[in-house]
Amino acid sequence: MDVRILNTPEQIAVAAGEIFVRLVKENPKAKLGLATGASPVKMYQYLISQYENGYLDFSEVASYNLDEYCDLPRADKNSYYTFMHENLFSQINIKEEHVHLPNGNAADMDAECRRYDRLLADIGGVDVQLLGIGTNGHIGFNEPADAFTEGTYKVKLTDSTIRSNSIYFDEGKMPHYAVTMGVGTIMTAKKIVLIATGESKADAMRAMIRGEVTPHCPASILQTHPDAVIFMDKAAASKL
Ligand code: PGA
Repeated sequence: MDVRILNTPEQIAVAAGEIFVRLVKENPKAKLGLATGASPVKMYQYLISQYENGYLDFSEVASYNLDEYCDLPRADKNSYYTFMHENLFSQINIKEEHVHLPNGNAADMDAECRRYDRLLADIGGVDVQLLGIGTNGHIGFNEPADAFTEGTYKVKLTDSTIRSNSIYFDEGKMPHYAVTMGVGTIMTAKKIVLIATGESKADAMRAMIRGEVTPHCPASILQTHPDAVIFMDKAAASKL
């Protein structure tokens, strides 16, 4: 793991963003694994600024998101489809047909999970996968468990994740299920970039970096990835 501790979320946004900028410059057809949540928002703003400056072209880039809520209309303000369009896609020139998210409303969820895995297998894994991390060490919606997950699957969210994310939803409206790339899928990425800021992530950072590799802290698997870059601010690093 390449651990980089920076002073501010703004510095992290630029440093992590530069990895994506370089990749797209080198390979205009780059396959980007993207993430939702608060952690990547500033980095997306940096990518948008590079696009607006005329420095970056996303017209051939393809994106693959980590996860999506189940039983939430795609047009809902809290769907990850909407999140990605509001925070990134509507502000750059990525083509809609190059945008991929798992469908949390599929009638046949098993078939949907296999479709998503095939899509990722066909490209040989994304070139870079962006990750946030839950306070419980989850990546994507892979919650602490007795075994590491493999391919894309439908997951019942833990109380901790429901508590963290319900701030975005009206009372009682937070979905309890999601569809997510499995840990095995995430590990097929050629490179991984994880962003963690704030003291609430400090325990997860310690478990991920200093702890043993265990499915009880799903992010700890990144210790075994050949090219994982971890960006954190001083608050997130305070318990290392
Ligand atoms: P956050 O979520 O970026 O909103 O903190 C990260 C996560 O739960 O994976």
